[in-house]
Amino acid sequence: MREPSPLSANVTPFASVARRLAVTRPPQSAVAPQDHDDTLRAPQSEPATERPLLYVARAPDMALVAYLKSRGWDLVTARTPYEATKQLKPDLACAGVVDLTGFGQRELGSLETSLRLQQVGWIVLTDENRLADPGVRRLIRHYCFDYVQLPVAHATLDYLVNHALGMVALCDLDAPPAATATPDDDEMVGTCDAMQQLFRTIRKVANTDATVFISGESGTGKELTALAIHERSARRKAPFVPINCGAIPHHLLQSELFGYERGAFTGANQRKVGRVESADGGTLFLDEIGDLPLESQASLLRFLQEGKIERLGGHEQIQVDVRIISATHVDLETAMREGRFRQDLYHRLCVLRVDEPPLRARGKDIEILAHHILRKFKMDSARRIRGFTPCAIEAMYNYNWPGNVRELINRVRRAIVMAESKLISAEDLDLAQFAGSETLTLAQAREAAERRAIEAALLRHRHRLAEAAAELGISRVTLYRLMGSHGLRDEKTTFDADAEAHE
Ligand SMILES: Nc1ncnc2c1ncn2[C@@H]1O[C@H](COP(=O)(O)OP(=O)(O)OP(=O)(O)O)[C@@H](O)[C@H]1O
Ligand SMILES: [Mg+2]
Repeated sequence: MREPSPLSANVTPFASVARRLAVTRPPQSAVAPQDHDDTLRAPQSEPATERPLLYVARAPDMALVAYLKSRGWDLVTARTPYEATKQLKPDLACAGVVDLTGFGQRELGSLETSLRLQQVGWIVLTDENRLADPGVRRLIRHYCFDYVQLPVAHATLDYLVNHALGMVALCDLDAPPAATATPDDDEMVGTCDAMQQLFRTIRKVANTDATVFISGESGTGKELTALAIHERSARRKAPFVPINCGAIPHHLLQSELFGYERGAFTGANQRKVGRVESADGGTLFLDEIGDLPLESQASLLRFLQEGKIERLGGHEQIQVDVRIISATHVDLETAMREGRFRQDLYHRLCVLRVDEPPLRARGKDIEILAHHILRKFKMDSARRIRGFTPCAIEAMYNYNWPGNVRELINRVRRAIVMAESKLISAEDLDLAQFAGSETLTLAQAREAAERRAIEAALLRHRHRLAEAAAELGISRVTLYRLMGSHGLRDEKTTFDADAEAHE
């Protein structure tokens, strides 16, 4: 068995950038384990003492159940993913243990629906074989706080579910509006692997003064990351000065960056301090650095080499102490190849590099962020909006999010205003076409599921019918017939060919 990962202990969803990254409390303090018997448990109405735990397993380990109950967990078991979703109380944060060893490949899809539930912090029990399956690995990466390989010591599992419950409890699923009355723009939300890696990187780079280059698609949080680095650095009491190099007309950039003296040019009636100088002691954030014209690139490079600036029309060299963070959504490698960006400047700017993951690669965070945004802006609606319909959630997972977090914010905000019921629908998000199964009849849904299962089995067994049929629990004749009715037979697939493959 591997060691429990430190990740769940260190990362707190929904705290402000500075607070969030500062949290390194010991795991037990999130929800302290209590040595008490069931009769001493506090009443259900006190959320702080509730310790709900959902245990999903085909064949629950009764010794484990008894142990966890003795540790004060309000444990319920479920033998199927469907039963699991039924056991949950709406909006109550809960720890979850799912034993994957008893579930077949075909059940992973319905398990995924349970694993996506935002209110549950999942720990996966698995074995080496299952871990080799890319589908299983993806589920663990996207939706779970941790996993362990069986056999596992009961005490270890108690420790891990404790972490998981502590983490989801911090998500504060049903916070009353008053608690969100002052939305904090600096909040940085993320629980998936990629975001936790990002938080670790932020902590590390904040401790140095080296230049940082942040790359990522539009709307992924580059500016938020730059601010997080500044707020965690020794410079946090000095200014954080952002400048969008793409938004300032080229002929004004030099004076905007370096300032000018009175009389430097017509209309320069008084001295102006530039952005670089105004960031003295703090951090200068050069956003959209890829749009910096070559002339300004040369001046910036000079400043980076000498640590001094000269205002336009001035003769004095002014020493400025700033830490430079830059960002762009364009591909600088191409810009360098095409001669639009100086290589020497790039190497100066990119001592440390941070990559922002796109939203589509953040798994369960999509849903967590959507709820976070809803909580933050729900007062925009006269209606009391409580959440999202299952179809809306499905659509959010299916959609590709080219505009990333910014697009998610815009869609949820618009939906808050447009929604006509207490739950935001896929239509309100303008994502109805991504909701998939919304218009399927039960018969159509069954047929689609059957086809998917057959396709997956054939793929896994490289079209060896006997093996695929055995896995699906049907005869080869039936599989062959079903393949015909689903249009999955091609000229290569014959009964005999399959038999030959086994000889
Ligand atoms: N992890 C996150 N948690 C919460 N909000 C986020 C997160 N990432 C980004 N945001 C929000 O998304 C919006 C876009 O973020 P930001 O401006 O930092 O992105 P960007 O990468 O700089 O975008 P662009 O390339 O368009 O300049 C902001 O409102 C920001 O607060
Ligand atoms: Mg930006």
